[in-house]
Amino acid sequence: MQLLDGKLVSEQIKSEIAQEVKEEMLDKGLNAPHLAAVLVGEDPASQTYVAGKEKDCREVGFISSVYKYPSTISESKLLEIVDFLNNDPEIDGFIVQLPLPRHIDEQKIIESILPSKDVDGFHPVNTGRMMKNILCYLPATPYGIITLLERYKIETEGKHVVVLGRSNIVGTPVSVLLSRKSKFGNATVTLCHSYTRNLKEITSQADILIVAIGQQGFVTGDMVKKDAVVVDVGIHRVPTLDTKSGFCLKGDVKFEEVAKKCSFITPVPGGIGPMTRVSLLLNTLKAYKKEISY
Ligand code: GUN
Repeated sequence: MQLLDGKLVSEQIKSEIAQEVKEEMLDKGLNAPHLAAVLVGEDPASQTYVAGKEKDCREVGFISSVYKYPSTISESKLLEIVDFLNNDPEIDGFIVQLPLPRHIDEQKIIESILPSKDVDGFHPVNTGRMMKNILCYLPATPYGIITLLERYKIETEGKHVVVLGRSNIVGTPVSVLLSRKSKFGNATVTLCHSYTRNLKEITSQADILIVAIGQQGFVTGDMVKKDAVVVDVGIHRVPTLDTKSGFCLKGDVKFEEVAKKCSFITPVPGGIGPMTRVSLLLNTLKAYKKEISY
């Protein structure tokens, strides 16, 4: 068994980006790429995510800015802020951190972001382009998964990929990406969800098993084929007496028993999490370079 080390690969990608920022932009007197984030309310998880994005930007030499508002902000005011960011030529790309307070229509906000600045890849124009294999911003977690497979030279062509979970941000897009006619696509994909029957029978046929089901320790050793590649997208805080913080992080896969059977597996933490984070930087770089025409 070999680890798919997302932490290591993401560090490599960050140093590649940092070098490009220095040599191709700063040394030539150009601005660095600028990523902005809009943070509404006091949700601790959202605050942590946004702080992580700022740290990632600092590490590669990007400019980052955070626009913070109280949870009482009105939908119309938030639409005005999005409009301002859409029109600010200094900002290459931005995200509106989710979830938003209940009185705000999340979909309306997402659809108000200019597709060319939507580095989260959540706008329906980007989703539609992804479906049709047109250049676009890919959502960060699926992008991170395919980049990790690519860097480890794990071929997907002709493989049977089984995806557990059909969320809009992970399961559904990753199943589309891997089945598209493209490099790191061309797989035969089975997308499983809460109505799937005979789940174990299906997962046991997977050459590549991608687990994004949101239940800690859901995948056990008996569900996995020998020498399969297992990608664990889950992340759960589990109380423990073994660490100073009083918790540890676990995935959707029972790591110890599954690791014994497979050829490659992502750890949690240090697998898909850091790959997701670096994907946002890659999208911001694409936005800066205007690589995608809309
Ligand atoms: N909330 C949790 N993950 C994400 C993400 O990737 N983007 C945004 N905008 N909000 C999130």
